[in-house]
Amino acid sequence: MGTRARKAGGRRGGTPAPKGRPPAAGGRARTRPAVARSPSAAGEPPVAVRAARPGDLASVTAIDAEVTGLAKPAYWRGIFRRYGASAKVGRHLLVAEAAGEVVGFIIGEVRDWEFGSPPCGWVFAIDVHPGARLSGIGTKLLAGIVSAFRRAGVTTIRTILSRENALVLSFFRSQGMMAGPFIPLEMELD
Ligand SMILES: CC(C)(COP(=O)(O)OP(=O)(O)OC[C@H]1O[C@@H](n2cnc3c(N)ncnc32)[C@H](O)[C@@H]1OP(=O)(O)O)[C@@H](O)C(=O)NCCC(=O)NCCS
Repeated sequence: MGTRARKAGGRRGGTPAPKGRPPAAGGRARTRPAVARSPSAAGEPPVAVRAARPGDLASVTAIDAEVTGLAKPAYWRGIFRRYGASAKVGRHLLVAEAAGEVVGFIIGEVRDWEFGSPPCGWVFAIDVHPGARLSGIGTKLLAGIVSAFRRAGVTTIRTILSRENALVLSFFRSQGMMAGPFIPLEMELD
C-alpha cells in the first residue's frame, strides 16, 4: 500500500463517528472507548506524540502484547535499540502519551531505493491501546511520523498490512492511503 503523504498530518478534530459500520477484524467493534484519552470537551488529558525513550519499553511491549496476544520482550528490546534515538538516520519510534501514560506507538523508517523506489517513508507498525482508540490518537501518531518523513524530504509513505486486518485497513484508508504500484510476493521455504 502506498500513497502520497497528503492527508495525514492535517485532519481531525471533533469529527463525529460514522454510524453503522461493522466491527472491524483484528480489533474491537466500533464503539466509543470507555476511557477516551485524547482531548475532548470532557476535559480529558491532551495527547502528545514524541520520540520514544528507553523508559517506554515496558509500555510499548505491553500494548503490543495486548493487541497481538503475544508478548515479545526480546523483539521490542531490539526495536528500541534500532529505532530509539535514531531519527537522524531516518528511523522513527514515536509514542503517544496522555497523562503520563503511553497509549500508543508507531514505527517507521525512510528507506532509499529499495524495490527500485526513490526514498520513501515506510510505516512498519502502529498500535493504539484498545482502551484509547477512536479518539484520534492513531491519526496523531501517523501525523507525527509523516512530519518526520517530510523533514527528511520524503513525499511518499508506504505500509504493508494483512488482508485480514480490516481495522488497520480502515484506519490507513481514512488517512488517504490507497493501493500503490507494488505487489507483495512470497513462497513457503520447506
Ligand atoms: C488502527 C488503529 C491504530 C487506529 O487507532 P485510533 O486511535 O483508534 O484511530 P483514530 O481514532 O485516529 O481513527 C482514525 C480513523 O480510522 C478509522 N477507524 C479507526 N477505527 C476504526 C474502526 N474500529 N472501524 C472503522 N474505522 C475505524 C476511522 O475512519 C477513523 O476516523 P473517524 O473516527 O473520524 O471516523 C488502532 O485501532 C489499532 O491500534 N488497531 C490495532 C492495530 C494493529 O492491528 N496493529 C498490528 C499491525 S501494524
